[in-house]
Amino acid sequence: MKTLVVGVGGITNGGKTTLSRRLHQQIPNSCIIAQDSYFKDDSVVPVDDNGFKQYDMLDALHMDTMMSDVDSWQRDPGSFLRRQGLNPEQTTPASADEDVFVLIVEGFLIFNYRPLNELFDKRFFLEIPYDVCKTRRSKRVYTPPDPPGYFDRYVWPMYLKNQQEMYSMVSAVVFIDGLKPQEELLAAVYNEVSQEIERLTEKD
Ligand SMILES: Nc1ncnc2c1ncn2[C@@H]1O[C@H](COP(=O)(O)OP(=O)(O)OP(=O)(O)O)[C@@H](O)[C@H]1O
Ligand SMILES: [Mg+2]
Repeated sequence: MKTLVVGVGGITNGGKTTLSRRLHQQIPNSCIIAQDSYFKDDSVVPVDDNGFKQYDMLDALHMDTMMSDVDSWQRDPGSFLRRQGLNPEQTTPASADEDVFVLIVEGFLIFNYRPLNELFDKRFFLEIPYDVCKTRRSKRVYTPPDPPGYFDRYVWPMYLKNQQEMYSMVSAVVFIDGLKPQEELLAAVYNEVSQEIERLTEKD
């Protein structure tokens, strides 16, 4: 059995979830694990000196649970895939004979967590500039909603800090310009992932 673990990381509102879902729709035998599903309950997330909830750090996430889900996929990707269920929008149906199972892990801190980072065969990182990020984020409603000043005084400084930390930890990252149209991003990333799948398929 052959497996490929693809990381789609990047800035908030860079398009991680959109790109990952579309990749999943195109790649047979693929699953998604999204880091956003592992946030701790609001009541246990501490506040900083400005009274802002400190969501943009690994401590705000149940990384142990996320790792155990990744581990469960690694042990038996076929049954993980069946449990997750086929995405009804998936254009390429999974085939029982297909021998490369692909896990797409998406999230804003996936490369900053060493035990997870070391599992990736391929790492993509979506980037967009400050003004676009702020505008995109202002159109979203998070749970809980961003309080006034949260982006400039918490989200952006934390992004810069987390990005520096990532640079110091990780080398093999493909940086992606998140300003490009979705179709273009999908085509570029799909192409790279397909090449990896082909390489694995040919290898015996
Ligand atoms: N290539 C793109 N061009 C323009 N807008 C995009 C693009 N990709 C995604 N978007 C839009 O940007 C917003 C954020 O997209 P998405 O939810 O995929 O980002 P994310 O990185 O997962 O964000 P989050 O930080 O909330 O997890 C959405 O409104 C989405 O429609
Ligand atoms: Mg997302």
